Amino acid sequence: MSVRERLDEIREIGRDELRGGYSRHLFDQAEVQLRDWFRSSAEKVGLSTEVDGNGNLWAWWGSPGPGTIATGSHLDSVPGGGTYDGPLGIASAFEAVALLQAQGWVPSRPVAICAFAEEEGSRFGMPCLGSRLLVGEIDPQAALVRSDSDGTTLESAWRREELDVSRLGADPKRLAWLSAFVELHVEQGLDLEQRGLPLAVASAILSHGRWRVSIHGEGNHAGTTPMRDRRDPVVAASAAVLAVRRVALEGESAARATVGRLAVTPNGTNVVASRVDAWLDIRGASDQDVRDQLAATLKLIGECVAAEGCSLDVNEESFSPLVTFHDELTSRVAHILGGVPSIPTGAGHDAGILAPHLPSAMIFVRNPTGVSHSPGETARHVDCETGARGLAEVLKRLAGEETS
Ligand code: GLV
Ligand code: MN
Ligand code: MN
Repeated sequence: MSVRERLDEIREIGRDELRGGYSRHLFDQAEVQLRDWFRSSAEKVGLSTEVDGNGNLWAWWGSPGPGTIATGSHLDSVPGGGTYDGPLGIASAFEAVALLQAQGWVPSRPVAICAFAEEEGSRFGMPCLGSRLLVGEIDPQAALVRSDSDGTTLESAWRREELDVSRLGADPKRLAWLSAFVELHVEQGLDLEQRGLPLAVASAILSHGRWRVSIHGEGNHAGTTPMRDRRDPVVAASAAVLAVRRVALEGESAARATVGRLAVTPNGTNVVASRVDAWLDIRGASDQDVRDQLAATLKLIGECVAAEGCSLDVNEESFSPLVTFHDELTSRVAHILGGVPSIPTGAGHDAGILAPHLPSAMIFVRNPTGVSHSPGETARHVDCETGARGLAEVLKRLAGEETS
């Protein structure tokens, strides 16, 4: 097979006719189908599969245990996401194993392919949910009460899948099995296209966080409420969004701030709204830069909200500190790939969650449009196959070494 053929197998799963692209969220119909695809891909290359206590799927070449070299990515998407963010890493991992098996090569250590649960955080609001739970970064009790936009809690979603909620949380034994993790991912920018190269490794992930900003006003009648008597949270939110951009434009060069999601209550054409929830995503070169950007942004938002006679509350949904990938592993992977460059990214990844716990690295595959989190995301067939061959070579070197 090829990476292209593997991705073709899931081409119709989770297509979003309304938004375009794919909407595949943890344990929805599409994501469950992708989990079946993961299992059948594993079966085709003779790998056994299991789900860990945190909803992450694992395929094992060899027996699970110490010294494991792991690769993989995620199956879920943002709403209306692209073809490659997540699935490329999974398809390439299976292709890499198939290529190595075709050579008659047998690993000296266990090799694992992992599909981490809810990397995008699009259902329960916590990016890299499965990997954060695995490393013990979030409290399972706090995770269980998180709810999706329909009010379904993570606990009931887990029970519906007949998963044992008592297994949720830190899994030090599994974590200790992993000697290294290498995630292959589509690049989410134009760096490689501009350099004319198919592959790179990741040097770092920008610091980033997500906040839910709730603006409360007074619901009222659109026809009978005089303009000067209104406390309209939509007007406050509109001013707040402009303030978010203003602060980021004035910040350091890596500063990024986005309001990509708004929920208006009650969301009626002839109704002055009573509440607006805005989700704020801020990224920057350091944790302090993000915190400073947040403080400056919230100050301005507070002024916008007060000017409309509204009130405000803010909840931090997640914070992901700056990640610097393991120097030695990253240099080694870059060398195995033929001396590819090392580039930073503003996007979050499960490899970044694992990085403080074990040597982790990433391989990026060129994206001709540079677009991601959108149906416009692309990758050339030839680059995807180059990526899988590169990953195979990386696994061969790393898993070809006896465990000490
Ligand atoms: C995940 O892809 C993120 O960077 O938000
Ligand atoms: Mn993504
Ligand atoms: Mn991703």
